[in-house]
Amino acid sequence: MSKLQIKSFEEYQQKYSQSVENPEKFWEEIAEEFYWQKKWDSVLEWNFDEPKIEWFKGAKLNITENALDRHLEKRGDKLALIWEPNDPKQRFVRYTYRELYEQVCQFANALKAKGIQKGDRVCIYMPMIPELTIAVLACARIGAIHSVIFAGFSATSVADRVNDAQAKMVITADGLNRGAKQIPLKRLIDEALEHCTSVESVIVFDCLGWMPTMTENRDYWWHDAISGQSKSCPAEQMDAEDMLFILYTSGSTGKPKGVVHTCGGYMVYTAYTFQNVYQYQESDVYWCTADIGWITGHSYIVYGPLLSGATTVMFEGIPTYPDPGRFWQIIDKHNVNQFLTAPTAIRSLMAFGDEHVLSYSLDSLKVLGTVGEPINEEAWKWYYLHVGKERCSIADNWWQTETGGIMISGLGNISPMKPSYAGYPIPGIQPVLLDQEGKEIADNETEGYLCIKFPWPSILRTTWGDHERCKLTYFSHYKGYYFTGDAAKRDENGMYRLLGRVDDVINVSGHRFGTAEIENAINTNGHVIESAVVGYPHPVKGQSIYAFVVLDSSVEDQDMAKGEIVETVVAEIGKIALPEKIQFVSGLPKTRSGKIMRRILRKIAEGDVSNLGDTSTLLDPLVVEEIVENAL
Ligand code: PRX
Repeated sequence: MSKLQIKSFEEYQQKYSQSVENPEKFWEEIAEEFYWQKKWDSVLEWNFDEPKIEWFKGAKLNITENALDRHLEKRGDKLALIWEPNDPKQRFVRYTYRELYEQVCQFANALKAKGIQKGDRVCIYMPMIPELTIAVLACARIGAIHSVIFAGFSATSVADRVNDAQAKMVITADGLNRGAKQIPLKRLIDEALEHCTSVESVIVFDCLGWMPTMTENRDYWWHDAISGQSKSCPAEQMDAEDMLFILYTSGSTGKPKGVVHTCGGYMVYTAYTFQNVYQYQESDVYWCTADIGWITGHSYIVYGPLLSGATTVMFEGIPTYPDPGRFWQIIDKHNVNQFLTAPTAIRSLMAFGDEHVLSYSLDSLKVLGTVGEPINEEAWKWYYLHVGKERCSIADNWWQTETGGIMISGLGNISPMKPSYAGYPIPGIQPVLLDQEGKEIADNETEGYLCIKFPWPSILRTTWGDHERCKLTYFSHYKGYYFTGDAAKRDENGMYRLLGRVDDVINVSGHRFGTAEIENAINTNGHVIESAVVGYPHPVKGQSIYAFVVLDSSVEDQDMAKGEIVETVVAEIGKIALPEKIQFVSGLPKTRSGKIMRRILRKIAEGDVSNLGDTSTLLDPLVVEEIVENAL
């Protein structure tokens, strides 16, 4: 696969030009490096109006043949997966490519035995254990569409996603370990499935030995399901444009939407970006600390690395357990060469003091990745100095669930670096900055709305069950462009710096939430009349959630009301969406037509009340004064 790898910045510039001059030829050459059961009839057909985007149309493949079978001859005994448990005293587990192949095939046969077929949706709600990777790949092996749900979401969120996808099966575990805590996954699934009718069976992995309640003729233990199943399983023949997975993500409207990725383009793009951004070499060990419940885990723990024949590390735990040196200890233990984490993790570890990182050698490291949110200069420098020891390059990966793979980033040690800048686009990616009127800004040293003007192989194809929503969210703001929802700045050399979201999306510790989604959750509380949620800067989480809430007049104990609201959000979405600040107000600032003026609330939440603009035209201007006075 090394043929895919760019080796110098000059080569990058050449490839980039080629990719813009003749994108089809460029991607066709890359696609040639994969195993296809049948090659494509056309490389690309597209229009951003419907939108309809088809890559490698007519081609047949199975992504797992590329991620597993293809490696068996030369890399059968190479480590594919190293699993590091939550508790450092517990033994770690390793799978060679051959072992992983056998486990995937065996579980794929178990899925088939339970009636799962090509096109069926399977929800996966699991701990960060090897069986999660195995379950994902087993679905892909038989052409079932996986929908992984992050195991921090509540039963209500799970039910919403299961129902939206009309999933036929759920794969889960009795519970999971996260630091010193344990979470009863199976109990949450039981609660969720009370509201779902499409699920016919549940497979439960015995992770903690908890013996949860098992419903007869619906729930089956993983070990029973695989018992007696063969360790080989023919790979289902998939069309390049058949769906590979759905992954739910939040947008500016209430309900999370199911972003759909397809087999061929996603395969080509995740492998290409992995090999280039991380400059992976054959004997390297690569570790991404994300959870497979998010897109980063899909593309850069599972698919990108395994498609490239890499050794990928998977970690069950959290950065601070049992102490804030855990990441660095794992790097030294497994001699990790490429490491990818999130700015929020870096900032939280910085806050514990340098001594935790200084006691590890970290000699093996070559490339450090950061992803999920803008990285501030201070965190960038700490990462560079204390983790990278000024030897390693930092690759700041900008991308989204919808883009499938990294879009703007440095490439290992071959690109110029600039703190807090993601850098240059990956070959094949054509970013543009648009002004208020939607016109392209040609100059450098400028900022604007970040859009992409040409398709790349792993662009989302639709949002599950609602194509119109895909069109409205991404392709209608600016005709002829994919709209990212982000603003960006371009410096004098053409490097990009991401400035954050321009829509009603809040990024808390790298997790995306729509303001409407959190408001809907808060409003389900019987005492809440209405609410408005905004994001504000937070030193560790990047952004945090501030809720302005109007209660009905019967409420006497505000502390109790706060507690209840917190409980409601935990039940509706999960702990990850908790508002850090809840302010009770007598009314919300609204225009005469009833629109909530979030701009004003955002300023108040940020503590910047010196210039709130003209409030005299509001429905009730006095309410702003009251909110400012009582701001938290
Ligand atoms: O605002 C951008 C921010 O995260 C959003 C995408 O979130 P999600 O789909 O959950 O994917 C996260 C992992 C790819 C983007 O619209 N974002 C992501 N990476 C960066 C970033 N902002 C700045 N710099 C980044 N490297």
